[in-house]
Amino acid sequence: MDKNISFTLKVWRQNGPTAKGHFDTFEMKDIPGDTSFLEMLDILNEQLIEARQEPFVFDHDCREGICGMCSLYINGHPHGPATGATTCQLYMRRFKDGDVITVEPWRSAAFPVIKDCMVDRGAFDKIIQAGGYTTVRTGQPQDANAILIPKEDADEAMDCATCIGCGACVAACKNGSAMLFVSSKVSQLALLPQGRPEAAKRAKAMVMTMEELGFGNCTNTRACEAECPKNESIANIARLNREFISAKLAD
Ligand code: FES
Repeated sequence: MDKNISFTLKVWRQNGPTAKGHFDTFEMKDIPGDTSFLEMLDILNEQLIEARQEPFVFDHDCREGICGMCSLYINGHPHGPATGATTCQLYMRRFKDGDVITVEPWRSAAFPVIKDCMVDRGAFDKIIQAGGYTTVRTGQPQDANAILIPKEDADEAMDCATCIGCGACVAACKNGSAMLFVSSKVSQLALLPQGRPEAAKRAKAMVMTMEELGFGNCTNTRACEAECPKNESIANIARLNREFISAKLAD
């Protein structure tokens, strides 16, 4: 049984994208160590509602590490101190009695604050939309063995597809670059034969949309890879660069 801890919680409050923000400080008492970070914030909000104060706004949905909605910058790290885990998979046992825990939103020009620590990540949806569709021929179902895919390629494509689009890579990057996200999404299709017909068009369109939306350039600091909750590799960025350059050459 994890022991209870008491700590100081500082949370970022901001009324909108252009409003001035500030930290509110709360003393949290006797929180069980097996409480998840989001459950701890639920406890804070219950206390605020009981005191007739405005609850703290933060994003969340599945609370199982699969939807990519939770997006808190905790003590200087996207998703907090745990590696390979999202905010919803972080438990209070990671912290010590008497700690000061600071919670901020993803800070990026491309992710404007909606309220408090909820940011608008619609820019990622626009990049995905720019990538377009994957050709799927309809008609008679094909034999399962008609398109043979080497196991290494299938495994690598699946690793790339585990990117949940949370935006931690952008939050971690001093340039606010979205290259790890875009390269993972390009790679998950480029590695499979079904993704090849539109591969060049897809890489070009997604990179250009990323640039238009105000994301920064990649300078290979590898902060994105270090902080990604799904352990996406920057080898994907090299693949995206190759796809992009060959598409430009083909033009
Ligand atoms: S709430 Fe879905 S990944 Fe955290």
